[in-house]
Amino acid sequence: MNVLVTGASGQIGSYVLELLSEEHNVVGVDLKHYPFGEEFVDMVVTGDLRSYFTVREMVEKVDAVIHLAAQVSVERSWMDPVYDAKNNIISTINLLKASSESKVKKFIYISSAAVYGNPLYVPIDENHPTNPISPYGVSKLAGEHYVKIYIEKMHVNIVRPFNVYSERMDPRNPYSGVIAKFIERAKKGLPPVIYGDGEQTRDFIHARDVAMAIKAVLDEGRNGEVYNIGTGKETSILELAKMVMEAFRIDEEPVFDKEREGDIMRSCADISKTRALGFEPKTELASFIKDFMTI
Ligand SMILES: NC(=O)c1ccc[n+]([C@@H]2O[C@H](COP(=O)([O-])OP(=O)(O)OC[C@H]3O[C@@H](n4cnc5c(N)ncnc54)[C@H](O)[C@@H]3O)[C@@H](O)[C@H]2O)c1
Repeated sequence: MNVLVTGASGQIGSYVLELLSEEHNVVGVDLKHYPFGEEFVDMVVTGDLRSYFTVREMVEKVDAVIHLAAQVSVERSWMDPVYDAKNNIISTINLLKASSESKVKKFIYISSAAVYGNPLYVPIDENHPTNPISPYGVSKLAGEHYVKIYIEKMHVNIVRPFNVYSERMDPRNPYSGVIAKFIERAKKGLPPVIYGDGEQTRDFIHARDVAMAIKAVLDEGRNGEVYNIGTGKETSILELAKMVMEAFRIDEEPVFDKEREGDIMRSCADISKTRALGFEPKTELASFIKDFMTI
């Protein structure tokens, strides 16, 4: 199969590109060059999906599209919601229109757990109401609605990853996730800074596992269905801080700062629907943190 992976130079897209290229003829597109190794550099074309002309060229001769490219920072989406909307919504519309008018048979849209907003219950299944609480969450949900109206024209799936981490997360990015921030401080011998009491929970999943889940959806997903991607395990920020301090042998208490406005208290995915496709997460967070020390 000829597969297009958008956002292929990003954290998750790079793993998807590598995994799918074992079985398929894969091409990637991204604003930036592929940064994770010579072997895949030539597979990724640089281009901006906000340009319909670029998108039309990219989807020509493609059987399946895995759409990951996005502005992914919640903080940036608050600072510049117009940039967020243009990047996330317009790119998605361009891809859907061009794909449905070419030979594309399958379209997988990478949404986000951000569409759920403050959970009414955990674990969160795919039927949980959507109620995003940031411009980023709204733009990802808008993308989902556009995807759904193309159901008669292509086989479409929506996936909602929870909190993703990997060796490829960018600690220099001020918006990167809590794991990258804790490790960055630990490398300098500093304890983590926790906002609030640290009892907030998240479902942390390795990007390589996310790529495997996306492959399961590509192979087995039913048309029009939505699939959560997580581990089904809830980890508190305090537990995470302890894991990092233990791995980096930091013998101090974490620093507690005031709670961040709008911080979600609990988050954890119900992954039974994705498991039924044959997906099983493999990477343990604690062992990843230990291994990270040697990277
Ligand atoms: N990281 C997470 O915790 C997480 C959680 C849920 C969902 N997601 C979703 O997964 C997808 C990938 O996230 P990631 O963590 O790999 O982020 P990332 O920032 O590492 O990758 C996104 C990539 O998209 C590219 N991109 C952005 N706008 C583009 C455009 N207009 N044209 C071409 N390329 C463009 C960027 O250059 C970047 O390489 C996103 O859709 C994101 O919303 C991420």
